[in-house]
Amino acid sequence: MSNTGKPAGGIDDPRLEGRTVKRIAFDEKVIAKRVSELGRQITDSYPDGDLLVLGLLKGSFIFLSDLVRQITRPLQVDFLVASSYGDGTVSSGTVKLVYDPETELEGTNILLVEDIVDSGRTLNRLMTILKERKPRSLEICALLHKRIAEGLKFEAKFVGFDAPNEFLVGYGLDHAENFRHLPYIASLQ
Ligand code: PRP
Repeated sequence: MSNTGKPAGGIDDPRLEGRTVKRIAFDEKVIAKRVSELGRQITDSYPDGDLLVLGLLKGSFIFLSDLVRQITRPLQVDFLVASSYGDGTVSSGTVKLVYDPETELEGTNILLVEDIVDSGRTLNRLMTILKERKPRSLEICALLHKRIAEGLKFEAKFVGFDAPNEFLVGYGLDHAENFRHLPYIASLQ
């Protein structure tokens, strides 16, 4: 799926606190259309049985809330909290599990929802942890995938967009905890 590539030279957005965005990689309309397609695809992939949509916080919070409203079958929602980045723009490589879901995972169909697959370290670590809980099935839905992860042990079954290898913010993604609330996904200058 290609991005819109719209230049952001003319963007006057008070949410940016004076920061310049290089360009809007994915705008609201493009995101909404793709999320709706993903919802349909996920609905079709789980014709019966339970479904636990497990959001990885904090980055997936907006994507997850839009996505679950496009899945037209029964489901439950829970969250995981892990942390791999500090305040910088480069992955530190360490993944810490800060919050464990309360829902029983054994025997459950789990769909792990990620905002972005970057180095892939978060997924490698979390999927290993989740597999140990013996779910009935375990799949990944990632809104963005940079396709640069080396040694990715688990591939996402559902992917929104292939993403440019740039520092992306908005629609849940942050830089030092800022810009998560942008309704579009932009690349920072
Ligand atoms: C970011 C992002 C992904 C992960 C991807 O999370 O939300 O979960 O890093 O990077 P990786 O593929 O290189 O592991 P972060 O740890 O920054 O936490 P956040 O979701 O709270 O922003």
